[in-house]
Amino acid sequence: MKILFVASELYPLIKTGGLADVAGSLPKALTELGKDVRVLLPGYQSVKEQLPDARPVAELTILGRPVRLLADTVPGTKTPVWLLDAPVWFDRPGNPYLTPEGEPWPDNDVRFGALCWAGVALACGRAGIDWQPDVVHCNDWQTGLIPALLSLGPQRPASVFTIHNLAYQGVFPAESVEKLQLPKVLWHPEGLEFHHQLSFIKGGIVYADRVNTVSPTYAREIQTPRFGCGLEGVLRARAERLSGILNGIDTDKWNPATDPLIAANYDSDHLDAKQANKQALQAHFGLSQETIVPLIAFIGRLVSQKGVDLILKALPGLLQHPLQFVFLGSGDSDYEHSLLYWSRRQPDQVAVHIGYDEALSHRIEAGADLFLMPSRFEPCGLNQMYSQRYGTLPIVHRTGGLADTVTDAIPSRLEEATGLSFDHPETGALEEAVKRGWLLYGQPELWRRLQHNAMARDFSWRRSAEAYCRLYLQAMSDRDPT
Ligand code: ADP
Ligand code: GLC
Repeated sequence: MKILFVASELYPLIKTGGLADVAGSLPKALTELGKDVRVLLPGYQSVKEQLPDARPVAELTILGRPVRLLADTVPGTKTPVWLLDAPVWFDRPGNPYLTPEGEPWPDNDVRFGALCWAGVALACGRAGIDWQPDVVHCNDWQTGLIPALLSLGPQRPASVFTIHNLAYQGVFPAESVEKLQLPKVLWHPEGLEFHHQLSFIKGGIVYADRVNTVSPTYAREIQTPRFGCGLEGVLRARAERLSGILNGIDTDKWNPATDPLIAANYDSDHLDAKQANKQALQAHFGLSQETIVPLIAFIGRLVSQKGVDLILKALPGLLQHPLQFVFLGSGDSDYEHSLLYWSRRQPDQVAVHIGYDEALSHRIEAGADLFLMPSRFEPCGLNQMYSQRYGTLPIVHRTGGLADTVTDAIPSRLEEATGLSFDHPETGALEEAVKRGWLLYGQPELWRRLQHNAMARDFSWRRSAEAYCRLYLQAMSDRDPT
């Protein structure tokens, strides 16, 4: 089976969030299952700098501009990658989506519209490359026009569209339809039109042969008004073709037994060594070197999705107790300032690192006792899985992928529990869950058992990759109804 995987970010080349981790891991896992997977990625300036040997293999005209495809492999893998080399759209500094001032690039419609047209050219064998996929796997709004455009062609591969986050939809003024040279037959309320605007994500949801999200619970949630971001009706209309497949994690990179980035390696039989990581983390941040005080960590984008406001509301009360907190993240400046305020006010108890730091994130996962993830919604979430692998018990709001990957330590389920969860995204519920975690931490034997349970969980990509293979087959048979 030949699969073209299209995404706007891919670890280790370019990353703003979990999508990059998935794009870095899933094609690799599919290759290991014997599939012929190739990736299409925008040729951002920084990506081309990391792949100086990428060689031009095709020249195309997209939206009236000459562009090239450069070919190479994803570093550390055998996965072939094509970069859409279009300096006018992608030779820009920093973040793939935002200007240095943090605003969306004003021509994001054209930039990602061009990515979609390049995907279609490759999918239909019109790029001058002797390879045509059976399935095109599109990810998030940046690729949403591909299934729509493909649906118009007679000889076409099947399409799969994965929603990593429904909150980001790629909605642009109606004038973009013409700018992007989109066929008029796609422009109607049951098509790409969303309240008189152009919606990239609707292209994926409406026209893909199969649609999926990154957890079974999120797949159900987005069909309701609370989580549907206005698209619940469109999603319900496709309910028979909509499913959820949990993400995996890179279990080589995230392995406390071999992780070169942490102070001391350990596994579930040698958990005493985890303590050295806690001490190293406390020393790094200048927190008091307490061993019996639970250290609670947060890593992630500082945005309302992640429930940062809930943490900030709970913090004054929680800091009355012997607890320590470490935060790593960046995002909304109000959240950044409020966290920094607490770290200045209570430096023995609160440490904050504003920024993006991959190595530090490993040290935090290894050094913390509990990991806080009170997301209001979470399509899948990766950090709660990294945490479990590091014996750092997650405290989560029971939603989306958090509900599907963490088993709450209620008395009747201690044999299998791996963390703590709460039902309502409210400060009181969060505080109560933290207190439960703290009480469990005070019972070393029980705590050890929960750590063992968490570390034994299988979050490897293989299982997810197998589920994607089944989805690709379903998409192919949906395309060719007998
Ligand atoms: P999302 O994609 O919504 O941001 P995920 O949990 O799926 O959430 O993935 C986030 C990824 O980004 C994880 O790999 C996480 O460790 C990483 N990450 C987020 N913020 C930071 C940061 N400030 N420093 C290091 N890694 C971060
Ligand atoms: C999104 C979601 C996150 C998910 C990631 C990868 O960014 O917010 O929950 O883990 O995509 O699928």
